[in-house]
Amino acid sequence: MSTAYTNDEIAALQEKAKRHLWLHFTRMSSYAASDVPVIVRGEGQYVYDQRGKRYLDGLAGLFVSQIGHGRTEVAEAGARQAAELAYFPLWSYAHPQAIELADRLAAMAPGDLNRVFFTGSGSEAVESAWKLAKQYFKAIGQPNRYKVISRSIAYHGTSMGALAITGLPGIKEPFEPLPAGGVRVPNTNFYRAPEFVAHDVTAFGIWAADEIERAILREGEDSVAAVFLEPLQNSGGCFPPPPGYFQRVREICDKYGVLLVSDEVICAFGRLGYYFGSERYGYQPDIITFAKGVTSGYAPLGGMLVRDALMKPFSEGQATFLHGVTFAGHPVSCAVAMANLDVFEKEDLLGNVRANEAAFRATLEKLNDLPIVGDVRGDGYFYGIELVKDKTTRETFDDDESERLLRGFLSHALFDAGLICRADDRGDPVIQLSPPLTCTQEHFDEMEQILRAVLSEAWTRI
Ligand SMILES: Cc1ncc(COP(=O)(O)O)c(C=O)c1O
Repeated sequence: MSTAYTNDEIAALQEKAKRHLWLHFTRMSSYAASDVPVIVRGEGQYVYDQRGKRYLDGLAGLFVSQIGHGRTEVAEAGARQAAELAYFPLWSYAHPQAIELADRLAAMAPGDLNRVFFTGSGSEAVESAWKLAKQYFKAIGQPNRYKVISRSIAYHGTSMGALAITGLPGIKEPFEPLPAGGVRVPNTNFYRAPEFVAHDVTAFGIWAADEIERAILREGEDSVAAVFLEPLQNSGGCFPPPPGYFQRVREICDKYGVLLVSDEVICAFGRLGYYFGSERYGYQPDIITFAKGVTSGYAPLGGMLVRDALMKPFSEGQATFLHGVTFAGHPVSCAVAMANLDVFEKEDLLGNVRANEAAFRATLEKLNDLPIVGDVRGDGYFYGIELVKDKTTRETFDDDESERLLRGFLSHALFDAGLICRADDRGDPVIQLSPPLTCTQEHFDEMEQILRAVLSEAWTRI
């Protein structure tokens, strides 16, 4: 299929984009003198722009396109559902697609996470989990528990409640004051571990987990409702949990009656080779939040999986969870999610990630010979490459250098070279990769070759 637009079509779209479209988290002025990148089509692991140029989708869109692009059977499942029942709410009613999907997700989820509350997005899922925690504790006679603990630099979404949980000061500051109760603890960035635990990853993990206990005690043990943690923290550049970290966190949560929320908006649905990231790292959450990969982006959907015990106070008498959104559990999205999960099963995508993740890691680790590459870290099909000015001292770039390197050069250069990935400096500067779960060695090689050329060029510009 040809995707090339004529020059006139390209110019018309550019003009409309520049005049009317507002891109998210985007410095719009940067497009004053250059084209807005416009992606028009996707197929497998690749997407195409207006001129027909091909890009390897090394970020699965935005950690979303697990099964890859252009799957007509998934698109058709959505179209069939729209024709049969395009919309009906989950407020007092149900529809078969939400019922079937809830049943399927409950069967897949670890332990007794048997209740599914759908949302339309990841932020809504996080927001819902906090609201559930607050109302649950009021219902069981612990009304003072409202605080939430999360980790430094972690991203948990942008709506006001989710933003209060997010640990990135720069994107919170314009919206202060945020809802009260967000408490921050250290993340698990072992590359930047404090000196006294810098040589022992297990000791580092126990220290980082114990910081949660210290925060609970500092805040008042009966004021904390929940701890929100990603299985592998995205923001900052892929921080895996050290051995024993989650087991210690679970103990602490049990000791103080605090809920453990596993925010799996990125890490669920195969990103780490399992349906849920908590399975990979062997811990039992009280709530899992999910979105993104549940539909591979063929329609929007999010939600939370909740333990039976948390549902109990809401299953008696007049009790009602006073929360809902119009498009939560949209019939088209649920039908698409079912078809998406069918692809996972038919093609054993979890098996593909587990079989190939070592090769993916080894291929990216070849980049360690470049002077600018400080650390390659991650698990499954989810990696961060930290860039440094000095490999030996691990010195990072100052704000000016980071601005010139990431915004001024790397983002554009990687895109121009045909690789979609993310150059991020919300912590230390990192390149992030999170490709479709269908990728194999040829795609790993392509990523490595493009990164090698562009990072080598970047080094000459510092
Ligand atoms: C861990 C995590 N939680 C929540 C969110 C928010 O999801 P959404 O952008 O769908 O609102 C994200 C988005 O990337 C995320 O990575």
